[in-house]
Amino acid sequence: MSRSREGWASRVGLVLAMAGNAVGLGNFLRFPAQAAQNGGGAFLVPYLVSFVLMGIPLLWVEWAMGRYGGQFGHHSAPGILDRMGRYRWLKYVGVFGLFTNVTVAAYYCYIESWTLAYVWHSIVGTFRRVEPTTFFPRYLGQHADSLFAVPPEAAFFFFVTLALNVWILSRGLAKGIEVAAKIGMPLLVLFGIVLVVRGLTVHVGDPGVVQSPLAGLNFVWKPDLSGLAQPKVWLAAAGQIFFTLSAGMGTIHCYAAYVRKNQDVALNAASAGWMNEFVEVVLGGSLLIPIATAYLGLSAVQGATSGGSGFSLGFLALPTLFNNWGWFAPLAGAMWFGLLFFAGITSSLAMGQPILAYLEDELGVRRARAALTFGFVTALLGFFCVWLYPGGAFDEFDYWSGTFSLVVFALLESIVFAFVFGMERGWEEITRGADIAVPRVFRFVIQWVTPAFLLAVFVGSLVQPAAGDWGAAFRSLFSGGGWPLDAGSVLGKVLHRGDATAWFGPDGRATPKLVKDVSRLLLCGVFLACSALVAWTWRRKAREAR
Ligand code: ALA
Repeated sequence: MSRSREGWASRVGLVLAMAGNAVGLGNFLRFPAQAAQNGGGAFLVPYLVSFVLMGIPLLWVEWAMGRYGGQFGHHSAPGILDRMGRYRWLKYVGVFGLFTNVTVAAYYCYIESWTLAYVWHSIVGTFRRVEPTTFFPRYLGQHADSLFAVPPEAAFFFFVTLALNVWILSRGLAKGIEVAAKIGMPLLVLFGIVLVVRGLTVHVGDPGVVQSPLAGLNFVWKPDLSGLAQPKVWLAAAGQIFFTLSAGMGTIHCYAAYVRKNQDVALNAASAGWMNEFVEVVLGGSLLIPIATAYLGLSAVQGATSGGSGFSLGFLALPTLFNNWGWFAPLAGAMWFGLLFFAGITSSLAMGQPILAYLEDELGVRRARAALTFGFVTALLGFFCVWLYPGGAFDEFDYWSGTFSLVVFALLESIVFAFVFGMERGWEEITRGADIAVPRVFRFVIQWVTPAFLLAVFVGSLVQPAAGDWGAAFRSLFSGGGWPLDAGSVLGKVLHRGDATAWFGPDGRATPKLVKDVSRLLLCGVFLACSALVAWTWRRKAREAR
């Protein structure tokens, strides 16, 4: 094992890199859509409760675990988890920290590359000539009659984006990731503020404005306690907290592993977390929904976000809406997509670093070669997403890697931290060198509330009933009608609920079901390959130690 001498150059750089890890596309595209779909203000209350009871505790747990593992020269989840106790299976829990990053990076870099392409097209004025609704499917290679696509422009921007990621990663922590965060984060906030000010100052009577943008703002911001009684809203809120904080991914562990033994983690973790919340709720909540509301009306906005994603508003509607802003339109487009690009790249770099760290620490691979390896694997998996995007491969990756795996890993690590590592040592790790007094109640929260909360989220997503109506589901169960499994629940997806198609249609052509199953098999294959790599690495280490 090579002892990495890498480290963060400054505390500001560390917090910005961690905040950049958290602040991502999810803040601007996923959060507003989730809020719109879950009742706006009714979403905000469970969301903030989830942040305090699950988000912040998980941040402390992951930072503390990372810093602890880093003292032994491990900067990626398998090695860090391995140090949490004497059990040999612990390192396999850490496999999630490799699997999730490499598979999420594959599709995440693809979206990131769209934003880069859109910056370019905004500047050259493409959206003045071509409707984004025509442009986007063509860009992605979507044809009505095919599940496969090799769209040349999308592939080009994807490889440019990957190359940029690989180059920054190969420059190292301080000269690469930290510099990118120091440039990207302030620009992102600046672009966000400019767009929020411009968006919120349009009035009914201005060209194209049908409703006050304040109606959109009011919708997101007005707290409404009714969400507290709805399990569906809780699940959505908890899911968003995971995704937005990048919890349960292994990225936080990795960055924190480069923090020195007595350096603060408590305040740093809280600062990065709150910075993310500021960007998500204040900027993310004040951009997409209010601007789209002003030009499309609130009910159209809710319709456009029905899948819980803001892609259609972000990529299809906004470029057209900006056209109402005259000379400022190309600049607004470049700022909006530039902001998304910076948000994306600071997160994808965080997904790459754990892979590099594993290759460097555990296998002695040099950084440049490790960065290229990450690029190569991401390109292969990403190409699968690009090629099979029209067939739905992308959504499969997003669900299994970007949503489900996070909950599983977070649940397992929270149990390991509290009960294998032990709360006594755990609390000592969180509070050592702390620049804030961590309220003692969090010791109880981390030990009991967070794992229980995670277990509830896990079970809830496993067997979520149709339409999220738990009351009706229990009534049906007790009256002998069985459990009405929702097609979107984990089991519903595994069992293909509501999808009676076969792998091939009557015309012999592949159906989306085949694409789904091939994607799932591929993901299982990647998980097994990561586990096999970890097993082989530890056997090799044991041989070398003899
Ligand atoms: N936390 C990152 C995001 O919000 C992954 O996009």
